[in-house]
Amino acid sequence: MTIKQKVLRLLGDGRFHSGQSLGTSLGVSRAAVWKAIQGLQKQYAISIQSVPGRGYRLASPLELLDVEQITKQISAKGKTLLGKLEVLPIVDSTNEHMLKVAGSGQPSGSVLLAEQQNAGRGRRGRPWVSPFGANLYLSLLWRFDLSVQDLSGLGIAVAVAVSKALSRFAPDLGIKWPNDILWQNRKLAGILLEIQGETQGPVVVVVGVGVNIQMSTDVGKMIDQPWVDLATMLDQPVSRQAIAGAVIDELLQAMLVYQQQGLVEFLAEWRQRDILLDQPLEIILGDRNITGIGRGIDSSGAIQIEHNGKLTRYMAGDVSLRQQQNKKPGQP
Ligand code: BTN
Repeated sequence: MTIKQKVLRLLGDGRFHSGQSLGTSLGVSRAAVWKAIQGLQKQYAISIQSVPGRGYRLASPLELLDVEQITKQISAKGKTLLGKLEVLPIVDSTNEHMLKVAGSGQPSGSVLLAEQQNAGRGRRGRPWVSPFGANLYLSLLWRFDLSVQDLSGLGIAVAVAVSKALSRFAPDLGIKWPNDILWQNRKLAGILLEIQGETQGPVVVVVGVGVNIQMSTDVGKMIDQPWVDLATMLDQPVSRQAIAGAVIDELLQAMLVYQQQGLVEFLAEWRQRDILLDQPLEIILGDRNITGIGRGIDSSGAIQIEHNGKLTRYMAGDVSLRQQQNKKPGQP
């Protein structure tokens, strides 16, 4: 851990700490503490108050992710599936980092979390807004002895797992095919799967999950779609360690179930959370737009759309969908 990270951990309680006391706790000079504070403000854009006679204080308290705390939240079953669990302060993208280390023997079930991503990736080449210490940015690596085609439903299984995990904290979550987790039509979490390996297997899958937990309104302005965070939904702060633990736990178990039984085990839960079911939809197919009614997914995870009395199936990645105005009763 660098001095900057150690200082940040001590400031995490939101109380005032003098430069002297921080220096003594860390065995460094007051000048080194001052330098670390400057670095934290510049590099991580963290707002730190400096008050003469009292010392330094975070503008708002910060619960930094901690491997030990997160591990405590994972079930005994989940722990048997967990590889290496690591938290980094800052990365380009946790998915990118995981893909890089995949080739050097990183064990299956390994999880990487970061406090901040400088180049967080979303689906369809979009950026994923990833400010420091505010949300959850997590990647899980899993090695499958399956073909790429066998993995067509994995994104659905992951969406079910993440929505199950988040439902431990927040009610009424829905999934928008293929894998956006929504609350009242606003995006709470996104999932990005990246695959490496042979078409016929084996393959390495990196499952990236971003969950909005406490996004500041200012940073939120950079997001180009309706979004929500858990703090707003619940009207109170939530523990990031607990959310991270729950997401990791459900993901690990879902990977094993998918490996052994495929998508079938996830279909019932999907149906309950599918917000597009029986909804009028606009389907964007390259430069063509058609309309139809969502009729759920098939056993491979493709969405089925009824158009002129006929069912057509579409794979994730080939189409994007928009809900038309006419909505389910009870939906905003
Ligand atoms: C989406 O567009 O809905 C997918 C968003 C996925 C974001 C997560 S954050 C952790 C992981 N690392 C990335 O760069 N992206 C994913």
